[in-house]
Amino acid sequence: MDARDLVRQARSVGSVNGLRAVRAAWRRARIDAQDLPRRGPERARVPGAADGADPLPGGGVVRFARSSLRVRVAVGGAVFCGWDSAEAEPSYALAEGCPEADTRAVIEPDKDGWRVVSERVTVLVSRHGAVEFRTPGGVLLRRDLPPRWWDPVAGPRDGGPRWVQRSETAADGAVFGLGGRAGGPRLGNGAYRLWNTDPGDAFGPGVDPLYITMPVQLVVADAGSHLVFHDNSFDGRVSLRDGEEGAGSGHDRPGGCELRMDGGPLRYWVIPGSPARILSAWTALTGRPALPPRWALGYQHGRWGFGTAEEVRRIAGGYRERGLPLAAMHLDIDHFDGHRVFTVDKERFPDLPGLARDLGADGVRLVSIIDPAVKLEPGNPVYDSGVAEDVFVRDARGRPVRGAVWPGEGLFPDFTDPRVRKWWGGLYAERLAQGFAGVWHDMNEPVSFAAFGETTLPRSARHALEGRGGDHREAHNVYALAMARAGYKGLSELRPEARPFMFSRSGWAGMQRYCGAWSGDVATGWQGLRASLSLVMGLGLCGVPYSGPDVGGFDGSPSPELYLRWLQMAAYFPLFRTHAAIDAGRREPWEFGPEVLGHASAVLRERERLMPYMYTLAHVAHRTGAPYVRPLWWNDPEDRKLRACEDAFLLGDALLVAPVMEHGSDLRSVRLPRGRWYDTATGEAYEGPGQVLVDAPLGRIPVLARAGAVLPVAGADGGVELEVWAPAAGRSGGGLLITDDGDGWAEPRTERFRARLVGSRTVVEREGAEEVGYVVRVRGDGG
Ligand code: NOJ
Repeated sequence: MDARDLVRQARSVGSVNGLRAVRAAWRRARIDAQDLPRRGPERARVPGAADGADPLPGGGVVRFARSSLRVRVAVGGAVFCGWDSAEAEPSYALAEGCPEADTRAVIEPDKDGWRVVSERVTVLVSRHGAVEFRTPGGVLLRRDLPPRWWDPVAGPRDGGPRWVQRSETAADGAVFGLGGRAGGPRLGNGAYRLWNTDPGDAFGPGVDPLYITMPVQLVVADAGSHLVFHDNSFDGRVSLRDGEEGAGSGHDRPGGCELRMDGGPLRYWVIPGSPARILSAWTALTGRPALPPRWALGYQHGRWGFGTAEEVRRIAGGYRERGLPLAAMHLDIDHFDGHRVFTVDKERFPDLPGLARDLGADGVRLVSIIDPAVKLEPGNPVYDSGVAEDVFVRDARGRPVRGAVWPGEGLFPDFTDPRVRKWWGGLYAERLAQGFAGVWHDMNEPVSFAAFGETTLPRSARHALEGRGGDHREAHNVYALAMARAGYKGLSELRPEARPFMFSRSGWAGMQRYCGAWSGDVATGWQGLRASLSLVMGLGLCGVPYSGPDVGGFDGSPSPELYLRWLQMAAYFPLFRTHAAIDAGRREPWEFGPEVLGHASAVLRERERLMPYMYTLAHVAHRTGAPYVRPLWWNDPEDRKLRACEDAFLLGDALLVAPVMEHGSDLRSVRLPRGRWYDTATGEAYEGPGQVLVDAPLGRIPVLARAGAVLPVAGADGGVELEVWAPAAGRSGGGLLITDDGDGWAEPRTERFRARLVGSRTVVEREGAEEVGYVVRVRGDGG
């Protein structure tokens, strides 16, 4: 037990749930001791020598003495590799099954094995099972060394053998992704576990893993970038080692990656290309990000412990009286009746639909938390119906697996069963009837409090896994993804005219097709602020563009300065929400003194002003997978200085945001990608690439606009205007505006604008139209 376990143990044992947490931990340990297949004697295996290859659509299969490798190039350029006869399906990640094979890609003999040549990548398979991915020009992107398996001597075991695969990438490569990691966005030397985990305490950059882990790595290098996705939901560990360049000596040490999995198939996808192309292909494969309703891009406020309807009204009134925009309020578990999911405490919230109506009249929606565990209690309608429908996870002996959660002892729906998903989706009718406009999935790693050991279900717990059957070792990491699927489908069916609004604490590859994510319990402190940027960027690069942190941190009380700096940064994140724990200090902007309130109010108004741009970015993410929040290297992946920059980000193509991440700082050194950038506060122009010092007084953080950007914003009357930043001499620019009804499924309208210089005057045109059709405000020196 490490120090964190001890702290967690002390905390949970000290709580009301303490005794239950002790019991749950014992139960879990006992169940696994009885039923988890023990690791007996094993025999190591490598593929051995190849003895031939057979062509198949999109590539072929190479036969080795003790395994086989299927290489299949899919339409769109993604390459699938499956060892030991692993197929691409079934898969929780793939949105619509395995894409069609690109029949132009064929396997042919090569000097040391075979090669499959496709438009974007050449795959070389050596006679001993090393696999190389090279650019069409021949530059090496990745080399996977022959894998090694450990087969149980006693014969096949549920879940298959353990395995390890070592890989090499470019010496200068930088790795991003692996889900939401606090210590990124660039993932340095070290081990990263693949097991969705509630850290049990507010976390900072040193804590790993967290709630969303994904075997998805984006490797960015001078020679080219690629994404690799190991489609395997078992527990695993990725060890990364930075490469080293031999300073022209020709002796580079490649970047290293070792992936160890506790079972499951050895199958993976490689997607080469520019970052934008990669995200497009990745979300074509795993699903385009769900488009949130427009209001979900407004500022939202939550708190565990609002306590009563009056308190919710009081807080909403506080925003209204001060003229502060507010799009939604989030109700946490304290509005449930005794923490039971899909219930309402009628004493403290006697008329929730009425509350929702009243707030709705002021444009404020209500969002509800949803926890997966159902209180074990005959008479609790959700429990009774769950028992009648036989929806709960059972152990290997057929007994329901009991866990300890907020309401006490609870059972866990098996979301990997389509029947259970249908049942669960239907329960959202109650939330809609209460007037909720969106939902927020929590505790779905899933968490069962435990005084010792892992705070989740026993590994031997049984799951349907779509009818294939298996245990929690395989189901754990996809539990929240499957829950999101159930919720999304339920909401879509119950209210077909509206787009579901959902975000989730846990998830896996492909979750974006149902929902967004949030940081979970990020620690209050400057390090927490930093971690929250890492999470948002990392998730975006894994295909989950809509996310954001608990602004101000989950626990304790941020200083007024920290609160404001966090608010200023998160105003440029898709999910912009203040939220905190029941015992934490307040997070309303007026709780930090008049100076902070003034500045905070400017932040919230600026967010409102940027809504047309944010909403355009939501559509762009939905269409192309490109995240709203992008690393600085997004358009310049070969710029190493940008790859090393972890304290700033791009919002779409037009803006560069450099949050203040330190106490007492009123100046920010900002690394600029190439081109001209304007400080949006002063209009001062800077030339990139390079590093500049920009003022960052308490009232604002540096936000720079790319020369030539056409930014749709809300004018004073609420109508759309175009803010245009003068192109640099000899250059042009442009931008997009995508609009729709703000909800529903009608086709959006896309307008494209071009900005160019005529003499020293900036001229803006709308593609395919005589008139621009919007008020244009030119800024920068060409106006
Ligand atoms: C844990 C979540 O991360 C947090 O946001 C929430 O307030 C608590 N659970 C209580 O529901």
